[in-house]
Amino acid sequence: MRVEQANHPLIAHKLTYLRDKRTDSPTFRRLAEELVTLLAYEATREVRVEPFEIETPVGPTTGIKLSSPKPLVVPILRAGLGMLEGMVRLLPSAEVGFLGMQRNEETFEAITYANRLPDDLSGRQCYVLDPMLATGGTLAMAIRYLVERGADDITAVTLLCAPEGIKALEDSLVDIDVPITLVTGAVDDHLNDDGYIVPGLGDAGDRLYGVV
Ligand code: URA
Repeated sequence: MRVEQANHPLIAHKLTYLRDKRTDSPTFRRLAEELVTLLAYEATREVRVEPFEIETPVGPTTGIKLSSPKPLVVPILRAGLGMLEGMVRLLPSAEVGFLGMQRNEETFEAITYANRLPDDLSGRQCYVLDPMLATGGTLAMAIRYLVERGADDITAVTLLCAPEGIKALEDSLVDIDVPITLVTGAVDDHLNDDGYIVPGLGDAGDRLYGVV
């Protein structure tokens, strides 16, 4: 697994305001969206393209366009939804599938409670959106799910990661033979006993949408 930690002052600036507990939900949502657009730029560096013949007002030239099938963006519900707009702003022609996963707050294990994805993902490049890579359980399950359906290139986009989560994700995906990239805004210090990233930003779903 390739890990890319974005390194840009605007990303660090927006992350700081996301982390700040005084930031309210509307501001948090807007900042998360902006931040994801910056991360999406990094995450799509290897997006598949093909040559495309066009005519400029001055003459013919060969450019490029996104290849078909178009990339599939998969936000993991619920917190991944807060990353969707920022991602499709940069990839407006991508298709979007949804995966509902939740971690059990006692065991920290991920369970799937919803799935709206094409059955056949053969040859698809997928971008999985999940703001917090904590224990790695949810992302590992989501990536395995997509690979089992044929996806052959996966990029996970996260706002923050715990080092323990990156290690656990790497360990649990060793048997997977498709390229996997992790793009993140920051790698934090550690995971606490309650499964929260420290210093982190708290519960991303609650910060985005309130406690429900
Ligand atoms: N999920 C969150 O929303 N926050 C954390 O710190 C860890 C997992």
